[in-house]
Amino acid sequence: MKFKSMALLMLTMAMPAMADQVTVNTQGVSLVLDVENGQPAKYLYFGARLDERDKANLSVTANGRMDVYPAYGLNTPAESALALRHADGNMSTALVATGYDSRQEANATVTVIHLKDAVYPVKVDLCYRAYKDVDLIEAWSEITNEEKGTVTLTTFASAMLPIRRGNVWMSHLSGTWASEGYVNNELLTPGEFVIRNADGTRNSHTDHAEVMFSLDGKGQENVGRVIGAALVYGGNYKLKAVTDDTDYHYFFAGINEENSEYHLRKGETFKTPALALTFSNEGLSGASRNFHKWGRKYVLAHGSQLRDILLNSWEGVYFDINQQGMDQMMADIASMGGELFVMDDGWFGTKYQRNSDNCALGDWEVDRKKLPDGIDGLLRDAKKNGVKFGIWIEPEMTNTTSELYEKHPDWVVKAPKRDAVLGRGGTQLVLDLSNPKVQDYAFSIVDNLLSKYPEIAYIKWDANMGIMNHGSQYLSMTDQSHLYIAYHQGFRKVVDRIRAKYKDVVIQCCASGGGRANWGMLRDFDEFWVSDNTDAFQRIYMQYGTSYFFPAIAMACHISAVPNHTVFRTTSLKYRIDVAMSGRLGMEIQPKNMTDEEKALCKKAISQYKEIRPVVQMGDLYRLVSPYDNEGLASLMYVSEAKDKAVFYWWKMANFYNVHLPRVKMAGLDANRIYKVRELNAIDLKPLYCEGKAYTGKYLMDHGLEMPYTNEVEWGKKTDWSSRVIYLEAE
Ligand code: GLA
Repeated sequence: MKFKSMALLMLTMAMPAMADQVTVNTQGVSLVLDVENGQPAKYLYFGARLDERDKANLSVTANGRMDVYPAYGLNTPAESALALRHADGNMSTALVATGYDSRQEANATVTVIHLKDAVYPVKVDLCYRAYKDVDLIEAWSEITNEEKGTVTLTTFASAMLPIRRGNVWMSHLSGTWASEGYVNNELLTPGEFVIRNADGTRNSHTDHAEVMFSLDGKGQENVGRVIGAALVYGGNYKLKAVTDDTDYHYFFAGINEENSEYHLRKGETFKTPALALTFSNEGLSGASRNFHKWGRKYVLAHGSQLRDILLNSWEGVYFDINQQGMDQMMADIASMGGELFVMDDGWFGTKYQRNSDNCALGDWEVDRKKLPDGIDGLLRDAKKNGVKFGIWIEPEMTNTTSELYEKHPDWVVKAPKRDAVLGRGGTQLVLDLSNPKVQDYAFSIVDNLLSKYPEIAYIKWDANMGIMNHGSQYLSMTDQSHLYIAYHQGFRKVVDRIRAKYKDVVIQCCASGGGRANWGMLRDFDEFWVSDNTDAFQRIYMQYGTSYFFPAIAMACHISAVPNHTVFRTTSLKYRIDVAMSGRLGMEIQPKNMTDEEKALCKKAISQYKEIRPVVQMGDLYRLVSPYDNEGLASLMYVSEAKDKAVFYWWKMANFYNVHLPRVKMAGLDANRIYKVRELNAIDLKPLYCEGKAYTGKYLMDHGLEMPYTNEVEWGKKTDWSSRVIYLEAE
């Protein structure tokens, strides 16, 4: 025994201190780090789950900078994840490991790597939450100041990930109001590719805080290795892919530090938002499926409950709200089989009546001139009509013309010593959520409504302005740079309070359309409004892009009137239905202007949507043909987890004579099972050739079904639009 331990001791002395491999595993993904006390923690591996036998061979590559969390100061030319000014003014930081540990949560394991500066008492914990049932790892850092004075954080990424250089393509979303969620694909080349947001309140109208990296050339939907990364933060963000003179691309993601330096007080810990990382061997759609599963299970509210089919009043009546009109709309949506009616903007304001977008935000009292019986009357009518009731609010905002602003001019965001910059309607202002009094007020809007009217089933929470002028009337002059971060901390506190008290209410996250389609924003929300643009044709592009990161259950997609109110395009009703039915179906229209025939088609669609709702809202998404590839069509499908049901969507994107469209191969089915075909929303005079026939999953995936290029209807009803929805049920 003695001899053995002597030998062991000699061995230890003769060898340099051995580094530990710290492995963070999900069922399909591995992240392996090299952690040696006194040394910086290094990346060894990130990708498909590693076989244990390969782990022994891993070593830190010499061809790149593998520091897990590079800090600024001792390798200044390189990009850093963390930069700070110590209490004494020193701007350099050098982090080394002091150990690691892990803890179990109900559905995940959290591994923490402890780092500290070798000279200064600044500690950084790198945290990794690996889910047991989803291929997703959340990575974030926690920075603690144990110095004698304040430490100023000037760069504070959530995480950095090195990606082996090669034919690596980045897919990301961009857009603007009424045109959100467009897909962009870029080859990573030397230099920096930066995606940033500085809106302050909303962060996904333009660029998005989510990306995918296709490692084997331009991304394909169902094959190829893909890394997905989503920053779980509703505020200003910065994502950066840096390609330099090494063999790696370096991906940094975190809060946008611009104009946001953070004063970390003695004893305080700053927790960065999580970066949600996934990996798939099944292409872009594979990475999407991982995000969708995680989002449904761990981020969204009620992610395992099917969503109601609703009518929203906005495009139907805009600000022209009145009791009888609301009652009529409720009766109409009920008669078509809908389950919920949502009264949008225009219902409030007494001193200032909300007849346009230029007044009354903040005055959340029912306008009795429009609605003499108040919310009681609306709830009474909803009950009478057999639908649930929902209501629109915009809690973070006010107008200069409002009772709220008259009472609390000090509650708005504005630059010190300057007039406030005004937004929507020429009068809108953002309330300063860094102020606890404003947080209480925002909470009280929802609390007043829901405590008085517990029957309210749904809230549409809107946010129609960004922070245009930098300044908080609450924060000290020293901490003005905390505004953007404090705003979102305040926002979170409000939502957490609401959710602690009101677990059941459904809350839609809206921000002039899709301004808040972001996983940080969506925690505890049920869904989001994809875009104010409801044109079915443009929606195909937007919904296709948005589906890269967000599941159908969260994507509000509404059938609206033609000519469309944004682009003035006239599409067929079937086409509008077929597009809206690929997400969370609703209507955004004045039913009283619809013909009986149109209502009947919608009624049929709603009843058929109820059949496929579990597949669309809970199933796995397989995107098949991208509208961005200009093949003349777009197609995708959802497959139930048990692979016994699937819904296939096919939309023609252009109508020219003698144009030859590709036949679409399906995906995600069980090759050995037999699926029976049934067309939904059928309008053709004759059934489809494949109607009622049964095909093997293999045939459908290897070969696919021909879709006729046009819908064959009566001569006078023909249009230049054509689409199909096919329901497949395993025998
Ligand atoms: C925003 C929303 C719309 C509607 C209006 C109401 O623009 O995106 O859906 O609610 O506000 O003013």
